[in-house]
Amino acid sequence: MPTIKFLNEKKTVEVEPGTDIRHAAMREGIQLYTGPHAYVNCMGWGQCASCKVLIKKGAENVTRPGWWERLRWWLDPLAMFAYLGKEKEIRLACKTRVIGNGEVEVETRPPLNLHGEKFWG
Ligand code: FES
Repeated sequence: MPTIKFLNEKKTVEVEPGTDIRHAAMREGIQLYTGPHAYVNCMGWGQCASCKVLIKKGAENVTRPGWWERLRWWLDPLAMFAYLGKEKEIRLACKTRVIGNGEVEVETRPPLNLHGEKFWG
């Protein structure tokens, strides 16, 4: 059975293959959202980009980002600043499904990259 380790919360959960990270987090009471997004978000439709997480380990054990997820980062400034510099590890939790039987390590609520090493300089 695959596992998701939520690093900030120090919690490891077993999930069925195909489970998305957002649902696994919600089931365990783990908060993915910051600020008002805890109350107002797209509920897993991949529209708000507020469920962003960093896949710190086990990226081979999750689905690859689809075209919408790759495009979504560029559609609003906040999402873009979160994305810059973390292109290889940032994902939308609602669009990231666990596959295989390995472990995935996830950092929830990553900070914005406002000093953006790749953007400003
Ligand atoms: S919940 Fe809105 S993009 Fe994931």
